[in-house]
Amino acid sequence: MTSFGVLRSPRTVLFGSGQRAALGWTARSLGQRALICTDERMARDPLFHEMVEDLGRNGVAVHVYDGTMVDVPIGLVETAAEAAKPFGPDVVIGIGGGSCLDLAKAVALLLSHGGDVRGYYGEGKVPGPILPVIAIPTTAGTGSEVTPVAVLSDPDRLLKVGVSSPYLVPTVAICDAELTLTCPRGLTAVSGADALTHAIEAYTAVRRPATAQLAQTNVFVGKNDLSDQFAREAVRVIFANLRRACEDGSDLAAREGMMLGSLTAGLGFGNAGTALAHALQYPLGALTHTSHGEGVAALLPYVMEFNQPAAAPLYAELAGPMGLGAMADEATACDAAIDAVASLFADIGIPTSLGAMRLEAKDIDRVASESLHAARLINNNPRPVDVNGARRVVACALAGDRAAAREELRAD
Ligand SMILES: NC(=O)c1ccc[n+]([C@@H]2O[C@H](COP(=O)([O-])OP(=O)(O)OC[C@H]3O[C@@H](n4cnc5c(N)ncnc54)[C@H](O)[C@@H]3O)[C@@H](O)[C@H]2O)c1
Ligand SMILES: [Fe+2]
Repeated sequence: MTSFGVLRSPRTVLFGSGQRAALGWTARSLGQRALICTDERMARDPLFHEMVEDLGRNGVAVHVYDGTMVDVPIGLVETAAEAAKPFGPDVVIGIGGGSCLDLAKAVALLLSHGGDVRGYYGEGKVPGPILPVIAIPTTAGTGSEVTPVAVLSDPDRLLKVGVSSPYLVPTVAICDAELTLTCPRGLTAVSGADALTHAIEAYTAVRRPATAQLAQTNVFVGKNDLSDQFAREAVRVIFANLRRACEDGSDLAAREGMMLGSLTAGLGFGNAGTALAHALQYPLGALTHTSHGEGVAALLPYVMEFNQPAAAPLYAELAGPMGLGAMADEATACDAAIDAVASLFADIGIPTSLGAMRLEAKDIDRVASESLHAARLINNNPRPVDVNGARRVVACALAGDRAAAREELRAD
């Protein structure tokens, strides 16, 4: 195996409780007129007002757009960009969950290059640098503060769409776990489970031939030696902290662990990419109106069973970071790792079957066939997936019988 690695990341990552107080000088080093993209909840938060005051003290003029809605309907991108144009922002700040951060990235794109956001769907369509973005997550989380993608929803399409480009990686990420202390248990669980799914899918993504063009032709290059470092660390800290953060939302050490976990998972998947669980979540989420994190997490144990024939050694390698102790052999470690993911998710209240998310048997074919449209994710999966493979995963996840799934999904 040839060694190969790609690391695209913000110019600066500030990590730690209280680091939100660095926003003022950080923004001042990038511009003088800041557009903040956030939502109504955050705009009412006293910590938000402190950050706005800090910007003012540092001589940065502020325009706030607080209309972000979850999953970012594309109309919002145009509305926010149009509303900000007369103000003339030279830096864009996203403060909130993944939806606010993705809106900030997409608005910075439109303010820089104009046009219709639909013209940028897919990979590599952004022609050049965009306004500097400062991303401040309040969930842990999507990792969007360090990734090259903005995920949006388009009312003309059933599935969500992505704009992916290295130019979308925020210039600065400020990761302050105190901002997540207000996350209710359910949000902590689904956003944390999303982060774990990012780490595991990045660690087991396909490894592509390490040509000198790979990082030019692909935004997401597949598993590599640098993304592996982040993915492994993410698995370790998320296993050590996610249960605790769900059980006691005021446990700041656990919140800090989860912030580190979502950040490192983002650095992993933001370079390697994700795979089948994310491809299946797009149609699953659209049909069941459930959150991104809930969908990927409910699917992940079944996707891992399906991928076991191709990824068993890698799952076994993750047993250590999961804290599972010494294992007799690789097969035992692989099975234990999959079981550990399933029981962690069950403990924190992730649905253990797609039936619990109200998916119906008649929808199995639709979810399976539409997942294949996410070719970038499907092609990144360690075991090749066709419609029949996708259907088997969805059917087993719908039934929610893990023992049966282990037998059925590992077969040819
Ligand atoms: N760009 C990426 O790399 C990437 C990666 C994964 C997911 N995503 C996208 O991110 C979105 C999901 O983001 P998310 O899970 O962070 O949730 P979110 O941003 O959609 O927010 C969900 C809800 O949580 C609330 N919320 C956020 N922070 C809070 C806090 N600290 N306290 C209380 N409530 C809070 C929000 O107000 C909102 O009502 C999806 O659209 C998903 O597709 C993007
Ligand atoms: Fe995700």
